[in-house]
Amino acid sequence: MSENLCAVDAEATSLSVVYHGETMRFHAIWLRDNAQDEHTRVGGSGQRLLTLTDIPNNTRIASAHISGERLLVTFSPDHYQTQYDLAWLRQHRYDKVAYRSAPWVASTIETWNHDRQASLVVGDWRQMTAQPKAKADWLACFLCDGFGVINVGDTRDGALHEVIAQFGYVRETNYGSLFNVRTEVNPSNLAFTGLGLQAHTDNPYRDPVPTVQILYCLENSAAGGENMLVDGFACALRLYQETPEYFEVLSRYCARFEYVEKGNTILRSKRPMIELCADNQIRAIRFNNRSFAAPVDVPFEQMETYYAAYRAFAKIIDDPTMEISFKLNPGECFLVDNTRVLHARKGYSGSGNRWLQGAYADIDGFRSTYDVLEEAV
Ligand code: FE2
Repeated sequence: MSENLCAVDAEATSLSVVYHGETMRFHAIWLRDNAQDEHTRVGGSGQRLLTLTDIPNNTRIASAHISGERLLVTFSPDHYQTQYDLAWLRQHRYDKVAYRSAPWVASTIETWNHDRQASLVVGDWRQMTAQPKAKADWLACFLCDGFGVINVGDTRDGALHEVIAQFGYVRETNYGSLFNVRTEVNPSNLAFTGLGLQAHTDNPYRDPVPTVQILYCLENSAAGGENMLVDGFACALRLYQETPEYFEVLSRYCARFEYVEKGNTILRSKRPMIELCADNQIRAIRFNNRSFAAPVDVPFEQMETYYAAYRAFAKIIDDPTMEISFKLNPGECFLVDNTRVLHARKGYSGSGNRWLQGAYADIDGFRSTYDVLEEAV
């Protein structure tokens, strides 16, 4: 078994630890701020009790040594002593973080295209409500793929709320806590007609945008009306591969989205179609031809390139090799990560009935439910 060692640098501003043959470096200020003891953090919630300004600006490592699986540190100038679990330090190491100039997606997700169709699985509601493991497995797939389908088997009005309640919380909007999608004589929104819809993310005119959408089928005897899903992150990465300058303008300049219902609702947002974190991780896609407002945040010299990029991105999104499709039967639903996966509908005929209900939720609740289930295993 290899020996665990530690050494403080000459300025005492950092130390290195050799743990099971791996070298990890940590700064004095990082260690002091991230102490795990009861003076620094509340037991249970782990909330930090200190502000950074409570910690001396000239914090240094006075001494450090390893005892078993723990690193013991004394800081100067305040002689503060604390200790760290070496496994925790390894889990939180940061000295190999490299800046990535190309866009990237989290290692916890897998992007997909049409090939994903072959492995499309419909979740079994009875199993996932009876067995925590089945629920955790469905959530793991949902968080990895950005979508999931469930056969609930219930065709009661409002059954979708019970689905959301299993995972998180409904997000109420001006459409209510749910909305109906079916043919209406005087449609106020194109979603309520029999026309096909281009793949889109919902409600990009909201800020913050709803991060989960559920569409639940209550009746479906109309011909057509299949649902299609497209992985927006896969489309964005493909755009970058094919034409990096198009990716650049769609992620650099903000689009505007707008929804107006006269006398009742005015919603406007300003965000890029491809939103990146500061470290170039792809964070969100906003794409919706119906609510795309006149772009006014693109420089004159870039506007033609911006429109060429928008067209190229739309062509990738419309490309059948990027989509999966399925027809929902009554009692079935699908959920999407609305910041990543676009949904679309093929046109359906006026004969027969097609009645879907939709609702929004936020994905943090889903992640929390999954993490709690995983921790309990
Ligand atoms: Fe939609």
